[in-house]
Amino acid sequence: VTLPDVDTPALLLDADALGRNIARMRDLVAGSGLALRPHAKTHKTPRIALMQLAAGAAGICCSKLAEAEVMVGGGIMDILITTPVVGASKIARLMRLAHTAGIRVVVDDAVGIDALGDAAAAAKVSLDVLIEVDVGQARCGVPPGQTAADLAGRIGRHRALRFAGLQGYNGALQGVAAFEERAARVRASLDLLLETAGLVRKRGIEVATLTGGGTGSSAIDLELRGLTELQPGSYVVMDASYAKVRDRGADALPFERALGVLATVVSRPAPDRCVVDVGWKSVSVDSGPPLVAGHPDLMFEFAGDEHGKLRSTAGAVQLRPGDRIELIPAHCDTTINLYDAYTVMRDGRVEGLWPIEARGRTQ
Ligand SMILES: Cc1ncc(COP(=O)(O)O)c(C=O)c1O
Repeated sequence: VTLPDVDTPALLLDADALGRNIARMRDLVAGSGLALRPHAKTHKTPRIALMQLAAGAAGICCSKLAEAEVMVGGGIMDILITTPVVGASKIARLMRLAHTAGIRVVVDDAVGIDALGDAAAAAKVSLDVLIEVDVGQARCGVPPGQTAADLAGRIGRHRALRFAGLQGYNGALQGVAAFEERAARVRASLDLLLETAGLVRKRGIEVATLTGGGTGSSAIDLELRGLTELQPGSYVVMDASYAKVRDRGADALPFERALGVLATVVSRPAPDRCVVDVGWKSVSVDSGPPLVAGHPDLMFEFAGDEHGKLRSTAGAVQLRPGDRIELIPAHCDTTINLYDAYTVMRDGRVEGLWPIEARGRTQ
């Protein structure tokens, strides 16, 4: 099968670039003493998680319980769920999962701890629990300070729970393009986490794991050596937003684009404009419009949920109906979640389809 045979819209995955990204992150982390626990919310595919584990990852992260269920079904046995799991039915599912695999979960309040502790005791499972600390993102998490120490003590009073450490993830700084500014903010967030860990330790409680970090902060986290574990997600495939984020020395981050959306031109109604068969149902725009690979003059504009307009800033669009172009999504996670499968490319040829088993698994 060659590329013209692929129907569109299609989510293209360059398996060679994917493999190089996984190897680069392995090499960056190797010898640092930090563990790598990639976030599977990006790729949502057990097969890719297994590749990350084969390259030395200690386990994976999932955002949602349903995602974790798919991963366990795919043979992944060490998972950190990075958002609190709340409500009786979800906690029951969590306990079933914890019977099968090594599951760690994040909490950020006393009610949640007691609910997990009671359920784990009733289900006769031992559950590793981490407290999330809000180190600047203002999403979940207790404020830095004594609250985490109080909650760690509370976890210790549940015999079915084990306090495993703290999570401090600051998503707001991952996309800060300038390296020095990002590095300063990563340091400030880490300080909040380390101070909090110190307060927990002062109570005589061991803090084994300090987990956090993403694609934007990984190199900085590795230099600072404050975390014990990194959770980057997007690095496996990258996107147009992360392509703007600078490494030290203003270089690009050391990861390649492995993802694209293949589109077909369906109309060229005016000299400066054509229309493709990719709209908001086939590429996410939460982080901005996609770019057009190889055509820096073409701007993607809204033309409905099933179509996109490509307008040329140079004045004339050379494309004609039937031509194919590749779009570069601005946000990999939300675009991947729109597709049932990756169309996998190797050496410029189609290798086959990899099902995205956890797409849409948001419960
Ligand atoms: C808790 C947590 N950890 C890690 C990540 C991975 O971040 P990135 O995709 O920027 O590498 C995310 C992404 O949103 C996250 O929410």
